[in-house]
Amino acid sequence: MNQETPEPALEEAAGLDAARLEAARAFARERHEGTGPCHDYSHVERVYRLAERIAASEGADLFVVRLAALLHDVGRGLEPRIGPDPDRHEELSAELAEPFLRGLGLDESRIAAVLEAVLRHRHRRGRAPESLEARCLYDADKLDSLGAVGAARAYLWLGEHGRSVHYPEASWLGVDPANNATEVDSFQREWSIKLRHLRERLYTAEGRRLADRRHERMLRILEEIEDEVAGGS
Ligand SMILES: [Fe+2]
Ligand SMILES: [Fe+2]
Repeated sequence: MNQETPEPALEEAAGLDAARLEAARAFARERHEGTGPCHDYSHVERVYRLAERIAASEGADLFVVRLAALLHDVGRGLEPRIGPDPDRHEELSAELAEPFLRGLGLDESRIAAVLEAVLRHRHRRGRAPESLEARCLYDADKLDSLGAVGAARAYLWLGEHGRSVHYPEASWLGVDPANNATEVDSFQREWSIKLRHLRERLYTAEGRRLADRRHERMLRILEEIEDEVAGGS
């Protein structure tokens, strides 16, 4: 059989995986209804595209990365209903993803690889991403907080919380960086304490390359806002 004619068994497996991705896409779309504009389903699709680009460049398992990207935030919608520690959507996402993945008929090793990536897409509770697939997803998710899209998302969040366009450095410089109260939040402060450090925290070469470009773009947006707020052209 030549290279243009895939083995029937391989073709069937590829078709099955494509159907599984479509099922995961539908599941994610449904779970993201009502999650707010900052983490709506469009975030999932952007992370998916970034993650598959990084995975292809790094030689990671594309199917695992794609599936993990689609499922990584499915638990976000459950957060407001759960206390006392509401900030654990990576765990909720893994809890929701596990029975879904079993229903797809995946083998145990692939289920474990996807769940690990979902669980470690945030650095909380000492869970650093260790597998290459988890690192691809982690980097893709962080990249969606940088660049022009990152700026748009920052303002969506600020708008939801009644915050404005510009807060001069003097108004937030002395505030404890650990203080995450909405009354002290701003794009300018978020850049200073968090976003400008993101590119140093990525794991993959392709992720860092993309982050360098998005970092510069976001910095330009901040500078343009400073200029325009001061009455510039
Ligand atoms: Fe997340
Ligand atoms: Fe995310």
